[in-house]
Amino acid sequence: MRIFTGVKPSGHLQIGNYFGAIKPALELQNQGEGIYFIADYHALTTVHNAADFRSYIEEVQLGWLACGLDPKRSIFFRQSAVPEVNELAWLLSIITPMGLLERCHAYKDALANGFAPSHGLFAYPVLMAADILLYQADIVPVGKDQKQHVEVTRDLAIKFNEKFGNVFHIPQPRISEEAATIIGIDGRKMSKSYDNTLQLFGDDKVFKKRVMGIKTDSTPIEAPKPVEGSTLVELFKLVATPEELAAYKVDMQKGGKGYGDYKKLLLEKLQNYFAPIRQRYSELKAHPDDVRDIMADGAKRARAIADQTLQAARHAVGLA
Ligand code: TYM
Repeated sequence: MRIFTGVKPSGHLQIGNYFGAIKPALELQNQGEGIYFIADYHALTTVHNAADFRSYIEEVQLGWLACGLDPKRSIFFRQSAVPEVNELAWLLSIITPMGLLERCHAYKDALANGFAPSHGLFAYPVLMAADILLYQADIVPVGKDQKQHVEVTRDLAIKFNEKFGNVFHIPQPRISEEAATIIGIDGRKMSKSYDNTLQLFGDDKVFKKRVMGIKTDSTPIEAPKPVEGSTLVELFKLVATPEELAAYKVDMQKGGKGYGDYKKLLLEKLQNYFAPIRQRYSELKAHPDDVRDIMADGAKRARAIADQTLQAARHAVGLA
């Protein structure tokens, strides 16, 4: 079983990326062949500042490794280190119906968030399909917001196989139930575009301020606090044991404490949970040469797989 997924370095890593994709994807490392990558070509659709871009790439690189990616067991690489993906994207483009792309939520959301409707944004799902199909993935662990893109990938693979012969595996999205959509500090989906994220790495003071700034209702101190749909409870759930979660909820329902107390408890849990990952991140950051070697080795191994698929696709359409 080949597991394949990626994160785009279009901003700082946030805990939605971690719980929605990185953690569930790395948990599968022992059950099959893991291939994890940094979707830098994709990030270029929205990041147009080279210095920022380089720093986001470094953060995502170190982040995956700090979160437990084992580069000996798994393949880890940067999308742009295997530029063959662009050729496959073209071969898929020629059979991609416009209507399929027009229906994609992520494209519509990007426009709603003020991005100019570029060809890159529009064709984004085709490049994503090329990623997944180039590496003949079986399972693609993603958050719910990427499910539609994996469905587009399946449609394109089936269409290509029917038209030109059997080249691609048909991949399955894998969406972790408890982490399909991680909510942000304002109760909406955690997303950079809503400015409601909690960063995985970065300034501790900012992290604290944002946790203490989580939006709550105006229930008075003495009154019981609602736990259904509470952002605090939803976030606490991610880092607590079932017993701790039950105690947190019972306490909230008793009343007598303000939301500030529950925010402090949540902050402490989050900080403890991420402490070892943050520690590893700092250690890796101090050894850039080791990280460079890991990425170079990953690119070589990824390329060997990519070459095979691309040759088969080129042959199927008659280019080779
Ligand atoms: P990206 O970089 O936006 O997000 C990376 C992963 O994190 C998940 N995620 C979330 N999950 C739950 N709750 C949230 N609030 C949340 N925010 C983000 C995303 O669902 C995703 O799984 N298009 C992809 C990158 C990509 C890719 C691929 C992924 C390019 N090619 C091939 C898989 C396979 C993206 O923008 O992810």
